[in-house]
Amino acid sequence: MRAGGSGMAFEVDKDILYSKFLQTCDIDAAESRIEPFTIVIFGGTGDLSRRKLLPSIFSLYCDSVVPDQRFSVLGLGRRPMSDDEYRAMVKDTAREFDERSFDDEKWGQFVGHLHYISGGFEEDRDFEKLSGKLELITIPDAEGRKEVIYYMAVPPQIVPVIVRKLKKNNLCRGKFASRIIVEKPFGHDRLSAIELNRVLADAFEEHQIYRIDHYLAKDPVQNIIFLRFLNALFEELWNLHHVDNVQITVAEDIGIEHRGRFYEETGVVRDIVQNHMLQILGLIALEPPVGFNADFIRDEKLKILRSIHLIDAKYVDHYMVRGQYGKGIIKGKDVPGYRDEDQVAPDSTTPTFFAGKFHIDSLRWAGVPFYVRTGKRMRKRITEVCIQLKNFPVKLFGRTCDVMEPNVLVLTIQPDEKISLRFSVKYPFSENQIYPVDMVFSYNETFKTRMRPAYERLLVDMLKKDLTLFVRQDTVEEMWSIVDPIISRWEENPPAGFPNYEAGTWGPEEAHQLLEQDGRHWISR
Ligand code: BG6
Repeated sequence: MRAGGSGMAFEVDKDILYSKFLQTCDIDAAESRIEPFTIVIFGGTGDLSRRKLLPSIFSLYCDSVVPDQRFSVLGLGRRPMSDDEYRAMVKDTAREFDERSFDDEKWGQFVGHLHYISGGFEEDRDFEKLSGKLELITIPDAEGRKEVIYYMAVPPQIVPVIVRKLKKNNLCRGKFASRIIVEKPFGHDRLSAIELNRVLADAFEEHQIYRIDHYLAKDPVQNIIFLRFLNALFEELWNLHHVDNVQITVAEDIGIEHRGRFYEETGVVRDIVQNHMLQILGLIALEPPVGFNADFIRDEKLKILRSIHLIDAKYVDHYMVRGQYGKGIIKGKDVPGYRDEDQVAPDSTTPTFFAGKFHIDSLRWAGVPFYVRTGKRMRKRITEVCIQLKNFPVKLFGRTCDVMEPNVLVLTIQPDEKISLRFSVKYPFSENQIYPVDMVFSYNETFKTRMRPAYERLLVDMLKKDLTLFVRQDTVEEMWSIVDPIISRWEENPPAGFPNYEAGTWGPEEAHQLLEQDGRHWISR
C-alpha cells in the first residue's frame, strides 16, 4: 500500500481493499474466498454474543464481506424464544453495540438469515434438533459441501460437554464440513489445557480448531510484523546491540465489571499475561519467519516463548510483582476496591495487577530485559510497547548539564493507534539546548478509516480459513509453562499487604522499584 508514503492523509478505498486484485495478490485466491456457511453460536443470547459477535456479523454483512444471501446464523441458548423474538433481540443488540449508525435497509435483508433454537445442550435430543435444523438452513458450496462453524460463546467448563456431544452426534467430521471456535481461557493451567485439547482433538483435526486471542486481531498488533520486516531502519536495530530494554504495558481503567466470580478464579496472570501479553512479547521478539504463512509465524513465536529464561520460585520472588486495587478515583468518580466488588471474597488474595521482568535466552536478545505490566483500575487505558534504544555513548558538547534522552520507539496499540519515535533536536534559537521530540504516525490521521474491530477481523479470517491470527495448541501449552510457576509460587505464598495500590494509579510501588533497581523507569504514562 502507498499509504502515508508522502506523509499525506490517505482515504482507504474500500473497493480496492476488498477487490479480487488484492485478494489474489495477498493470499491464494481459493483460500481467501468465503464459501457459504452457517455459524452456530452456543451461548447465542449471552454477553459475548450480544456485545461482540452478533453486531460484528451484521456489520460484515453491511460491508458485503459475507457471501450475499448464502449464509445463516443460528443462535442456541437455554431461554425459550421464537425466531422472531431472537431477531428482535439481535436487532436491539446491533443497534446498541454497533458503533456505526444502524442501516435499516440492510437489516431488512439480513434478518431472514437469523435462526434460534433453545435447549440445555447436554442431551442428545438437543443435538438431533440441531442436526435437523442445520440440514434445513445450510446452503451447500459449489462442490456440495456444507460449511458449519461452531462458536463456543459459553463458559469454559461447558466446552468439553458440547464437544463430546457434537462428536457423538456425528456433527464434527461427518455430514458437515465443520470448524470450531474456542474462546480463552484455554484451561486454567498447562495440564487442564492439555486435557481440553484432548477432547477437542478427539472430535476435530487441528486445522478445524480456531483458538481466539482477540489481541492478535488488533491492527497495530499485526503491524508489528510489517514494521519490523519491511523496514530496514527498524530491523537493523532490533537486537541486543542496540536495544536497551523493551516495555509492554496493558493498562485498563475499568475494574472487573460484572465478572467477580470469573475473576476470582482467574486473576490477572491467567486473564491477560498468559495470552495477550505473551503474544505481544512473542511478536516483538520474533525472528524473521520464512514466509507470511500462519504456521511459519506461529513456529517462530513458539521458539521465542520456548527461549524465555526459566522462571522458578526464586525468580518470581525477585522479578515479579503482584497487586490488587483498593478504592480510589477514576475519571473524577469514586470506585470501589476489588474486595468490595460483587461476588469477590472480602479477604480475596486474587491479583489484579502484574509486573515482571522476562529474559529471552537467544543470540538476538540475551541480556535485554522485557518488562511487562498490566492491571485493572489503573490511571488510564493504554496498551503500548516501548522499545528503548541504548543511549548514544558520546557527550557531544561535553557539558555535564546536557541530558541525552535515549531514542524510544513507541507502538501504541490502543486507544489511539499510533507509532512514534522519540529523538533529540536543538531547541530553536537556544545555545545548543538539547530537546526531545516525537515523530508520530497516527493510523486515524493517515488512513482516515474506521479500524475494523478485533472480532470482525477474526470472523473474516476464520471464514477465509486463515489461521494466522489464531493460537496453536503447542503455543497455548508453552504459555502456560511460562506462567504456571508464577501462579503456583503466589498461591503457595499468599500476599501480605493487599490491597496494595489505589485505583486510578500506576500500580504498587514495587512495580516502579522493579525498574528503578535497574536504573530505568516505566515510559508509558
Ligand atoms: C479480555 C480479558 O481477554 O481482554 C478482560 O478477559 C480484559 O479482562 C479484555 O478487560 C481487554 O481487552 P481490550 O481489547 O479491551 O484491551
